[in-house]
Amino acid sequence: MAQYASDFHFPGMLYAVPVEATIANGRVVKLDTASAKEMPGVRAIFHRENIGKIFRSVQGQGFEGIVDERRPPFGDDIVRYYGQYVALAVADTFECAKAAADAVRVTYDRDKPNVATDLKADDEPAVVDTTFVPTKRVESERGNPESAFAGAPVKLDQTYVTPTQTHNPIELQGTTAIWDGSMLTIYEESQAIFNMQGVLAQMFGLPKERVRIITKFVGSGFGSKLWPWTHCALAVAAAKQLGKPVKLVISRKMMFQSVGHRPRTQQRVRLGATPDGKLVSLQHDYVNHQAILDNYHEDCGEATAFHYSVPNLRVQFGRARRNVGSPTAMRGPGAVPGLYATESAINELADQLKIDPVQLRVLNEPKIDGSLGIPFSSRHFLECLELGAERFGWSNRNPEVGSMKRDGLTLGWGMAGCAWVAARFLATANVQLRDDGSVHVASGTQDIGTGTYTILALLASEKTGVPLDKVEVALGDTSLPEGPISGGSMVTGSMIPAVFAAADNAIASLLTIATTTPGTQFEKRKPGDLAFERGLVFVKADGPAKGVSFADVLRRANIRLVTGSGKSEATFGNPKPKFSTHSFGCHFVEVTWQPAIARLRVNRVVTVIDAGRILNPLAGRNQIEGAVVMGIGMALLEHTHYDSQNGAPINSNLADYMMAVNADVPPIDVHFLDFPDKEINELGARGIGEIGLAGIAAAITAAVHHATGVRVRELPVKIEDLLTSSVLS
Ligand code: MOS
Repeated sequence: MAQYASDFHFPGMLYAVPVEATIANGRVVKLDTASAKEMPGVRAIFHRENIGKIFRSVQGQGFEGIVDERRPPFGDDIVRYYGQYVALAVADTFECAKAAADAVRVTYDRDKPNVATDLKADDEPAVVDTTFVPTKRVESERGNPESAFAGAPVKLDQTYVTPTQTHNPIELQGTTAIWDGSMLTIYEESQAIFNMQGVLAQMFGLPKERVRIITKFVGSGFGSKLWPWTHCALAVAAAKQLGKPVKLVISRKMMFQSVGHRPRTQQRVRLGATPDGKLVSLQHDYVNHQAILDNYHEDCGEATAFHYSVPNLRVQFGRARRNVGSPTAMRGPGAVPGLYATESAINELADQLKIDPVQLRVLNEPKIDGSLGIPFSSRHFLECLELGAERFGWSNRNPEVGSMKRDGLTLGWGMAGCAWVAARFLATANVQLRDDGSVHVASGTQDIGTGTYTILALLASEKTGVPLDKVEVALGDTSLPEGPISGGSMVTGSMIPAVFAAADNAIASLLTIATTTPGTQFEKRKPGDLAFERGLVFVKADGPAKGVSFADVLRRANIRLVTGSGKSEATFGNPKPKFSTHSFGCHFVEVTWQPAIARLRVNRVVTVIDAGRILNPLAGRNQIEGAVVMGIGMALLEHTHYDSQNGAPINSNLADYMMAVNADVPPIDVHFLDFPDKEINELGARGIGEIGLAGIAAAITAAVHHATGVRVRELPVKIEDLLTSSVLS
């Protein structure tokens, strides 16, 4: 049975519930905890005066010390966003703790919050801090984009807006913290347990070895569980003070306030082209909102600079501070809102030029990555377009708005391309061969619901020839060898070389044992004379028919198991790459429009993905389908609204925050191309967790335009937007 982080219970465990600020800008002037403290079952009400020491963490090398909200909880008495924690009630039961949290009276000095939706870049230097590394605001530049735009015979200059969106994994964030002497154990649904270990060690002044993070299963994350949030440190601090395990599970409402969101973006795209459809200039200028103290950059330009062949280009960004909790990465961060804007612009340009949008993309297919001047490791975007168009029946499209009908409905057809970065993170793994014929594979990575347990088992099985039901997988624990973060769609690609190397090393040890065990047929052979295949050790010259199972080899030597370790180095962030490594794809979408009742439906989707070799096609297809479902939500439904009066995300529940549900989901036809990318790993597998969400909103809005004649440039598409449709029947 899968045990999620908040499913673990411990004797004497207490429950914590935070008190959320009900203002988004101001100061706490008084906290009245008197009546809360007196309530039955209440153990403590913590706040700035009594929470104890929580240090500020700092960023280290690579994926070390990363947080989106750097200020320790209760770090000062200033409130900078609605829902910021100002106190913490701890009690014997969750119900008592909740009642006590509600009974804390907070008096504020309040200022007007700034949650304005129109985003103009704040005054910032040319190089700015971000959650990761300092970043140039001019992200990419070549040629002379202004003069090329000015001189272009055909121009497009449009601004696209994506709203704040909130990750809503089913499993709420939660921490259970246990202090045992000076050893701290945390059960948490983390997408990056080693980073969390390092951050919490810093915040509580401990050596890393004394902090253990356990994450056996994650009920999805979508990025909201990548980096530690403030509730985690609060649970740890409370457990330390009270000498008991403390569990803190946030509410769905808190999920909208204090554990990140995809920020609002406003993106101006300028394209210049020749009448026959060759791009001559591309400018992408965008702004994302960020929190008051932190420095989140939504990298909307992630795919802009390489996706098309264009000699003159500039991608630059700015940011605007707002009284909101810190944004964070959300599935396909950057590229997803970015490609919505740039692919929408390409679609609009196609209409302007009266060139088919597929053809316009073919005309501007790059030979190399024009931003870095290096070849792609493997790019089969044109094959994606070809297969997608064929599967969809695109050649039957009549480009005239509102011209296509079926069963009394108006059809809209649209398409868009997509891309997502591919690389490896540092990964280490152990593989054990055991005397009962089983194999054990271990790495401190996480399964966020994407099938990492299965992938690790498949890899170990493939390499050792042991059937899947005899492969055991351990992950989600910092006591295991360090594994990659579950982010960037990079776990599978990163783990392959590490697991394979670990298996090779375990096999090498096994062969040495075989040749040094007295009284066996391999005695006096050299390890190099032996081979290992499908679980059998044999003399190369004799072939596997005379082989002995590895379990027998171990038993004869009276050895329980042999372990091999393997490591693969990171390629992510390499400053001088030889190849540009990305996955690619495209979506073709049909919507139906019923003008009499203003009813819009996504009716079918064809998605083609070029992600190298797909190791688990069933689970892989499911990743793309899930992303397309999320994309329907992005295009038509998802939008976190901030109340301009108090700065609260007001639709902070699953009834008012609309997302795509089963009834919104049409047949989704997913195809994978099969071009292994050996630059990434020996199997040629790139990641697939995020790419399916890129581009889909642009395909849907293009289809909406084709059906209704209405060009929506601010997501989500609302029915109100379509009431101006000229296509009335
Ligand atoms: Mo993903 S947003 O890298 O969890």
